[in-house]
Amino acid sequence: MKQFFSVADVADLSNIVDEALRLKSNPFAYEHLGKRKTLGLVFLNPSLRTRLSTQKAAIHLGMDVMVMNMDKDGWALETRDGIAMNGTTVEHIREAAAVMGQYCDILGIRSFPKLEDRDVDYGEDLFRKFIAFCGVPVVSLESATRHPLQSLTDLITIREHWHQPRKPKVVMAWAPHVKALPQAVPNSFAEWMSRAQAEGLMDFTIAHPPGYSLSEQFTQGATMTNLLDEALEGADFVYVKNWSSYEDYGKVQHISESWMLDHAKLALTNQAKVMHCLPVRRDVELASEVLDGPHSLVIQEAGNRVWGAQVVLKRMLEQLL
Ligand code: CP
Repeated sequence: MKQFFSVADVADLSNIVDEALRLKSNPFAYEHLGKRKTLGLVFLNPSLRTRLSTQKAAIHLGMDVMVMNMDKDGWALETRDGIAMNGTTVEHIREAAAVMGQYCDILGIRSFPKLEDRDVDYGEDLFRKFIAFCGVPVVSLESATRHPLQSLTDLITIREHWHQPRKPKVVMAWAPHVKALPQAVPNSFAEWMSRAQAEGLMDFTIAHPPGYSLSEQFTQGATMTNLLDEALEGADFVYVKNWSSYEDYGKVQHISESWMLDHAKLALTNQAKVMHCLPVRRDVELASEVLDGPHSLVIQEAGNRVWGAQVVLKRMLEQLL
């Protein structure tokens, strides 16, 4: 594996999930693979889970890890080509990425969208240039449009908590929020679960209010509805997530609080397990009574971020041999 940017970088969903669960039962089995290899983690935005779980995964594989908070400690980056850098940017992505590639065997980078111009964000210019110029394998720690480590982990978590012969019904349910959030997590979850559905692993539904459709490139094959209660009927897993509008790009429209999952809504499901990528705003996005109850998988899900990251790093290290 030379890059991990989207579900398209994985040939075999079932195999990668099985491999991640084997790593969970034997974390240090491949400690030799990363000996004298360095992972660089570059953050242009905050992170708790991605930062710590990816470091932990690298430690299990015997790697050394360097972390750069580029937004606070790095030079202001320029990504545009063909312009004179006579403004506020100090270093071009061409040099910055190439230099980081000199110090690291594998690089990870996180860069959120600005939510101002859809074409700019969905063009993923920074990520594409970083991959092109650094010269080493790159793992996305969340880009403007996708969060593949989160989605792989979500699939691992669903597999781990599903023990029946029939396919589970998985529902991604939009939730209220006070801020405009990116579409990266729901895009990515939709892309991964649509692929899982195509491979016969689940039935997948997306429920959102009018005005919150995701880009069709991520939702092929998913059942789409504006009716939350109907979507929740018979659900085995509910993935709660807010996102800002794709259509009216980056905007938040007034939506009833009735989209927040609470015990009354959960009662419509098939005793569903509840997931959220975290961080979550309690009693805005998701009711405390659900988060603190037996149906919540949010902590186990966050714990599984280690195994999602570890299986990706392991596959990249195997390519370096
Ligand atoms: N879910 C997730 O990516 O968490 P962080 O933003 O804390 O890394």
